[in-house]
Amino acid sequence: MTEWTRVCSISELPEGSWKVVDVEDVLIAVFNVAGKYHAIEDICTHDGGELASGKVEGCEVICPRHGARFCLKTGAALTPPAYEPVDVFPVKIEADSLWTRDDRWD
Ligand code: FES
Repeated sequence: MTEWTRVCSISELPEGSWKVVDVEDVLIAVFNVAGKYHAIEDICTHDGGELASGKVEGCEVICPRHGARFCLKTGAALTPPAYEPVDVFPVKIEADSLWTRDDRWD
């Protein structure tokens, strides 16, 4: 099983904010949406754009490049031009910090 990587302290990720962490060369974007934390790979499946700085509406992020929407809970591609989902990752809270890991190869 892969190791957990510390993202930041809880206080550093207030509601409506996001942070990107490098987990063994995989960029994972962690969002705080209304007090719930969601982690997705920071690569749009349409054309490789980064997603973290995209506008968040509800529990969806909009790719800043061409406007595809992704569900932050499931990674599902909700609108063209993206059709493939982004990978999602677990988030845990421990010792006042947020942690994530790339569990795709467990
Ligand atoms: S790179 Fe994200 S919609 Fe095109």
